[in-house]
Amino acid sequence: MEDLPKGLASSGAVKIEKRLKSISGGRVLDVATGEGGFIDTLMKTLRDYDSFVGIDNSKKEAEFAKKRFKGHPVEIIHMNAEALEFGNDIFDTVCISFSLHHLDKIDKVLSEMKHVLRPRGHFIVQEMFCDGEQNKAQKTDMLQHHWDAEIDSLFSVVHNKTLTKQKIEDIVNKLKLKEVEIFESTHYVKCLFCEDKFECEDPKSKQIIKQATKEIDDALDRLRKYPDSKVRARLEEEGKKLRERVKKFGSAPASYLFCIGKK
Ligand SMILES: C[S@@+](CC[C@H](N)C(=O)[O-])C[C@H]1O[C@@H](n2cnc3c(N)ncnc32)[C@H](O)[C@@H]1O
Repeated sequence: MEDLPKGLASSGAVKIEKRLKSISGGRVLDVATGEGGFIDTLMKTLRDYDSFVGIDNSKKEAEFAKKRFKGHPVEIIHMNAEALEFGNDIFDTVCISFSLHHLDKIDKVLSEMKHVLRPRGHFIVQEMFCDGEQNKAQKTDMLQHHWDAEIDSLFSVVHNKTLTKQKIEDIVNKLKLKEVEIFESTHYVKCLFCEDKFECEDPKSKQIIKQATKEIDDALDRLRKYPDSKVRARLEEEGKKLRERVKKFGSAPASYLFCIGKK
């Protein structure tokens, strides 16, 4: 652990990794898998697993993930999480990572996930939050996320603001899982495998500023197509301020909750 940067070593990521290493995943379902980032993390951390199924309702994301895991025991399916096309009790582990705020019907999706999970199987939720003690670089990320979500919403893409810690806990509690454990972390588990570990070290590094600025510019590009010039002008102005904030304070991922329970 000595070779880890200080922030990463003291973050919850180490504890979460340790907990994941104690779990036999069996047949794992990753809902709203996107590019499959969480599947990759679980492959590196679970004690063992049989196979993964990742589902996403975006064809583009599903196609990307399909190519990414070619040759691995991973099946990626284009599917709406609001109506999972699987039998009851067939997965040993179900998970959803950084996607609650992208869902139109959170409770419906989570209840579908619970149906397909076998009794005593693991239910894993990880989601970033907007409150608590976050430093200025994390606040930049959160403000950028809220701004980006507003732009997506203008184009009818479901993208809500980052949830509060309490809201995430309430959502998980509603599932009535057993033996629920909640971890909190400033750093992703995947940072533990990042070769240069840049993500967690310097929020004002060239790479991070370049990446955050690119994301803002991409969102500004999308915004150009919005017809209401008043709304556009307001969001463009906010985008400019965000760019300045990134330069001044840097950017770092918002802290997140990692919840594990059993059905
Ligand atoms: C932030 S991304 C996923 C991140 C990924 N899970 C990870 O941890 O790297 C959110 C994803 O949710 C997907 N999504 C939103 N609503 C969905 C639904 N109803 N069914 C399936 N996927 C959905 C989007 O297409 C998008 O790929």
